[in-house]
Amino acid sequence: MTAQPPGTETEHLTADAAGLDRAAALLAAGGLVAIPTETVYGLAVDARDDEAVARLYHAKGRPTFNPLIVHVADTEQASALVAMPPEAVRLAQDFWPGALTLVLPIRPDSGISPLVTAGLATLGVRVPAHPVARDLLRRTGPLAAPSANPSGQVSPTRASHVLEGLSGRIAAVVDGGASTVGVESTIVGVLPDPVLLRAGGIPSEALEACLGMGLFVGGEAGQPISPGQLASHYAPKGAVRLNAAAAEPGETMLGFGDVPGDLTLSASGDLVEAAANLFARLHELNRMGAERIAVAPVPETGLGRAINDRLRRAAAPR
Ligand code: TXA
Ligand code: MG
Repeated sequence: MTAQPPGTETEHLTADAAGLDRAAALLAAGGLVAIPTETVYGLAVDARDDEAVARLYHAKGRPTFNPLIVHVADTEQASALVAMPPEAVRLAQDFWPGALTLVLPIRPDSGISPLVTAGLATLGVRVPAHPVARDLLRRTGPLAAPSANPSGQVSPTRASHVLEGLSGRIAAVVDGGASTVGVESTIVGVLPDPVLLRAGGIPSEALEACLGMGLFVGGEAGQPISPGQLASHYAPKGAVRLNAAAAEPGETMLGFGDVPGDLTLSASGDLVEAAANLFARLHELNRMGAERIAVAPVPETGLGRAINDRLRRAAAPR
């Protein structure tokens, strides 16, 4: 099975009415279309089209046990797909649209392709905050969309990153500019006890404040229960050394705050800026041909936890 007929060129669509109409038509025909979200770019397909979902796994080179997040325009669309216990309703009220994915029991009549859930009885759903994504979702209905990168590689935060990894393998990319959050959504399972499955764009403190209780942390004894928690994910091409005070000979330094570098996550030590820059810097290091990468320490607070989580995976043995 090929993702696209050989030689097909990936269309670069603008984020206006004409571009979104074209994107919606391609999706309705079973095409793969990369779309901007505020976290990272997603590679979208119609979540009810088995064949399109299969082509998506193929284009990403993704192991099929890894379930996909379904994106919807609003909470009402979400509740047609999943059961929403009171904790989920509260989280949705406070954080949707936004960088929060809720893993909830799937409704038997959801119509979602079983390939999306990889056979699980739960579904990950999210209402993205990016206006272009929401505009498109109103035209299309539920879209399954993992990050728009080949499996195991750096997530894209610009249309150009998508094309670097997937050009010729997907029908189109909608250019919505740079993703503002820059790390993937926080994933919380509500089954019905709230469990943090992946740190992400919304700090867990904010979720705990909303719920008035602590979150369980997913995965017994470090067992990944959200496959995005697999080690060696988000990897740039070079080897990565963390918590480096300075570069050793032959290393390219990625700085943060007072620790300077050949490039920096945030010269002012701003964690929000660092999250927004993270994947763009890893892409830049790939383009520079960096074979050994040293990364300055990033504090383990707020968004720093999501940044460090991605950096640890980038540094994991492959
Ligand atoms: O910000 C994001 O979440 C981006 C944008 C495009 O929305 N998407 C994203 O998707 O990061 P992806 O496919 O790269 O990561 C999805 C994660 C995976 O680790 C997957 O295992 C987990 O969500 N996931 C999805 N459904 C799940 C389920 N039913 N149970 C447990 N984990 C689930
Ligand atoms: Mg991903």
